[in-house]
Amino acid sequence: MKVLIIGNGGREHALCWKLKQSQQVTELFSSPGNAGTAQIAQNVSIGIQDVLGLKTWALEHAIDFTVVGPEIPLSLGIVDQFKKAGLSIFGVTQKASQLEASKVFSKKLLQKYRIPTALAQIFNAYDQACDTIASSSVSYPLVIKADGLAQGKGVVICSSAKEAKETLDMLMKQKQFGGAGNSVVIENFLEGEELSYLGLMDGNHFLPLATSQDHKKILEGDQGPNTGGMGAYSPVSWFNDTWEAKIQKEIVNPLLSAFKKEGIEYQGILYIGLLISKGVPYVLEFNVRFGDPEAQVLLCRLQSDLLSVLTATMQGKLNTLQLKWDPRPAVGVVMTSGGYPGAYQTGYEISGLEAVQSLSDVTLFHAGTVLKNGKILTAGGRVLNVVALGETYDKAIQAVYEAVKNIHWKDAYYRKDIGYRVCQKQKLPF
Ligand code: GLY
Repeated sequence: MKVLIIGNGGREHALCWKLKQSQQVTELFSSPGNAGTAQIAQNVSIGIQDVLGLKTWALEHAIDFTVVGPEIPLSLGIVDQFKKAGLSIFGVTQKASQLEASKVFSKKLLQKYRIPTALAQIFNAYDQACDTIASSSVSYPLVIKADGLAQGKGVVICSSAKEAKETLDMLMKQKQFGGAGNSVVIENFLEGEELSYLGLMDGNHFLPLATSQDHKKILEGDQGPNTGGMGAYSPVSWFNDTWEAKIQKEIVNPLLSAFKKEGIEYQGILYIGLLISKGVPYVLEFNVRFGDPEAQVLLCRLQSDLLSVLTATMQGKLNTLQLKWDPRPAVGVVMTSGGYPGAYQTGYEISGLEAVQSLSDVTLFHAGTVLKNGKILTAGGRVLNVVALGETYDKAIQAVYEAVKNIHWKDAYYRKDIGYRVCQKQKLPF
């Protein structure tokens, strides 16, 4: 089969890498891809927002199956467009993508169907939002979420009314994330343990993936501003069958019946961002695609044929599948350009990649990289992902950091504590 992967991040390189292992894949294309995908697929220079261009290219090149990595083309209706043109594609429809593309939409759905989530109010007007955060009945910290897509950076935990006002200014007045700040959700801050709970949905059946958890903050100890994700691990050590049953009963099943009632045909990845507080799983957010960097650790542990899994999802045949996972933990570290998630420079030459590529049980995924005159240069905020499998979490962590030490460029940055939560005696959420 001729397969096209849309996107250019670490997640898409991991999808390419895993699909390349499938006996059924004869030709692999990546659009627009990065310097890593170029080594295993043919990069096509069409941007992720150019839905019409991608559709025309896929038709002209008789692509058998397309896999959409990021949320933007999903929210632009790429799946609807491809299906209309008779092209097979993995991903959710534009209507279903609202679950991620609009925090207002998802909050209203959660409220309507009484699915556990933080108490929240929705504001379209800056003045009203300001009045609310200044009111004496509001307690801090509280969470302000931009309604629309903001690359993981539109959620701010505010510890004071001053910070909340600055956040509202940034989102609703200065429009740092454009139209994403036209409306905001202001919600109670919940304290507890986060879990990235991902599964495949084929319209009728939900098949959970292995558990994983990302580290969203830029600084060690999970401090500082949010990023797209600084690292991840899989599985999550405290998760067990009791939690699986509880999440299915309290979140997944009500959600599936909500989709039916709302006429949302959901086929693709459903990523439920959960916060477990005092024994209760609350929905923090939804994503309608693989997490990044969760995909990198999950795909390193997945032993089943990815193409069969993705095609079965779109054919409504998930009930015929059982996923096989490497029992060993995987830990992934994201290397970024210095300054990220703020302003950063690009165009720096990266060295040490060959040393990492030769290590066993270590996989290197590119994100913001570009090949220029035979050299691999930085080209984005998140630049590389290094993932290691180990017999234990400690061994995986040791292996990933040994590998990362080989890689250098000017001002490279990475967190030194990815996976620390599984190695310390953490307070468990029950
Ligand atoms: N790792 C969080 C996300 O993919 O949105």
